[in-house]
Amino acid sequence: MHRMYGPIFFVSILGAFREIAAASQHINKDLTNHYNARFHVYEEPYNIDFTYHNYEQMSRFLRTTSLRFQNLTALYSIGKSVKGRDLWVMVVSSSPYEHMIGKPDVKYVANIHGNEAVGRELMLHLIYFFVTNYGSDPYITWLLDNTRIHILPSMNPDGFEVSKEGYCEGGQGRYNARGFDLNRNFPDYFKQNNKKSQPETEAVKEWVSKIQFVLSGSLHGGALVASYPFDNTPNSLFQSYTSAPSISPDDDVFQHLSLVYSRNHGSMYQGLPCSPSQPGFKNGITNGAQWYPLTGGMQDFNYVWNGCMEITLELSCCKYPPASDLQFYWEENRVALIKFLAEAHRGVRGFVIDENGNPIERASIKVKSRDVSFLTTKYGEFWRILLPGIYKLEVYANGYLPREVEFRVVEQHPTSFNVTLYRASRHPIEDETGSNFYNGNRDHTNRDHVIHFRPHSGTNTASEANSGIFSSLSNGFNSFVNNWFG
Ligand SMILES: *[C@@H]1O[C@H](CO)[C@@H](O)[C@H](O)[C@H]1NC(C)=O
Ligand SMILES: *[C@@H]1O[C@H](CO)[C@@H](O)[C@H](O)[C@H]1NC(C)=O
Ligand SMILES: [Zn+2]
Repeated sequence: MHRMYGPIFFVSILGAFREIAAASQHINKDLTNHYNARFHVYEEPYNIDFTYHNYEQMSRFLRTTSLRFQNLTALYSIGKSVKGRDLWVMVVSSSPYEHMIGKPDVKYVANIHGNEAVGRELMLHLIYFFVTNYGSDPYITWLLDNTRIHILPSMNPDGFEVSKEGYCEGGQGRYNARGFDLNRNFPDYFKQNNKKSQPETEAVKEWVSKIQFVLSGSLHGGALVASYPFDNTPNSLFQSYTSAPSISPDDDVFQHLSLVYSRNHGSMYQGLPCSPSQPGFKNGITNGAQWYPLTGGMQDFNYVWNGCMEITLELSCCKYPPASDLQFYWEENRVALIKFLAEAHRGVRGFVIDENGNPIERASIKVKSRDVSFLTTKYGEFWRILLPGIYKLEVYANGYLPREVEFRVVEQHPTSFNVTLYRASRHPIEDETGSNFYNGNRDHTNRDHVIHFRPHSGTNTASEANSGIFSSLSNGFNSFVNNWFG
């Protein structure tokens, strides 16, 4: 099933986004006239208060923001809910309308469960914080100059409208208007998901197939923990009664990302249980399946199919706390929300190009011994979040000789380099940098986009640990690696 999915939805990233951008520019123009005539938007104070914003109020805030901060924000809709409400996404970046080539796009998705309301409001405050601190706060300025941040404050606007403030538990408003749990509605790597795909899910699937997101947070409520893939597990028997972790090949990275959130959060790191009947979490983080396994979750989908590292952030014990608590939640989460996104600037990035320097789109890449592959963009770009260490990148593209490249990741800045692929018909030649080599014996040349992940691999040691490549590291390698920030 997943093999069918990937290629079908992988369409031109920027082409499609330009359409969205054009659409939202159109919206902007109409609205400019509208608001200038009726509300004198530029004379009203721009603010966001600590109350809940229903769909109309949220839409109005987003539109006002896009008008006020036209150089810093873009508003687009990725589709409509069952009841016809727009799934608004606000981009905040110094390049809101155009992807910055070589720089990562990241996202937050909130309110996928309609009655988990805190994240939705936090997103509005985060947007406000970004636009009002750009240019004065150096860190925010750097972040928005080097990252495009896409914020979907409500993936389930219909559910929110029927939810009730002050209801800390229960399922009223959790589901979409047809009664589906949207965080059980995505394709699943481990199990067949027979749930009928919902419009909100389809919108998100199309969105993430058009834009290569590098990092993502999915915002929830009802617990206080950062939960990371895998949410599901290959074990089929007694799955809901086990509490075994379902470890992904990037477990170290996911634990790190989760810890960045929990440590920068006001209290999450303490890992205290929400109530005596609920579990506590060491350091405020947990493997998803270890907490409880689920099928059709969004974070596994982002990771396995879309090259995007997504974790699930449970931000409040009470799903829909009184509005008087919102300021407290904002203060608890503000730093964590910002620092987490900056983690997109960790690891490795670059371009896959041909011998003439042209980008190779949809080259399939994986980090050796981390068997989840990802694809290059239209511009040949790739990104992968990795902790400091030495790694090998395996790069395949139809019609080209596959290639392995060894590289080092450091703490201070992302490692950046280009990988040149040569036509399969040519004989391998020594690369000028000496840091790359060919591996013509592998039968990878004809593979299309394949999910490399093997849940039960376990034994990837002997051949993977081949140290031959290490000896090919030359002094030239280090000069080949650029500091992304110059
Ligand atoms: C937006 O950017 C353009 C081009 O850089 C500039 O001319 C204009 O003054 C900016 N507008 C605002 C509101 O900052
Ligand atoms: C890598 O390729 C990109 C896109 O072709 C190019 O802009 C950049 O200068 C290249 N970087 C290096 C270090 O060759
Ligand atoms: Zn939830």
